[in-house]
Amino acid sequence: MTRLLTFGAFDLLHYGHMRLLERIAARGGHLLVGLAGDDLIAAKGRPPFYPYAVRREMLLHTRYVDEVVLHDGAIDGTGRVKLVAAKIALVREMAVDEVVMGDDWRGEYDFLESVCRVTYLERTPGISTSLIRQSL
Ligand code: CTP
Repeated sequence: MTRLLTFGAFDLLHYGHMRLLERIAARGGHLLVGLAGDDLIAAKGRPPFYPYAVRREMLLHTRYVDEVVLHDGAIDGTGRVKLVAAKIALVREMAVDEVVMGDDWRGEYDFLESVCRVTYLERTPGISTSLIRQSL
């Protein structure tokens, strides 16, 4: 069975997230989410609205996600993608065949091509966690 992995914060789970997860799951296989830990999100800007345990619970309540694994650690690198070594280690450890991300990340996960396939799917326009937080 194909093992699929996507990374993200998935805070204030919204229809953009759901549409991405639906399309990843439709590829068939076991879908893992490398869910950013609270400290990692806080280090990138501001803490999440929902803590890790709640974000994990909500993902597992969707019909798309099979498994959630913690993705956390001390911030490294200067680019938008953090914890590069941890991402490579997770792909290896979880025997991942393909990493799938929204295309706002296009190119930024290409470093994983040495360990698995990397695919970008179209991001849903007009919705994001940041937008919800600002609007509220
Ligand atoms: N995503 C998407 N469509 C959206 C929002 C997010 O396909 N409208 C995808 C992203 O491309 C990413 C995944 O969902 O692959 C997780 O994104 P995340 O950063 O957790 O959500 P955002 O809503 O983009 O959060 P933020 O506003 O904090 O960047």
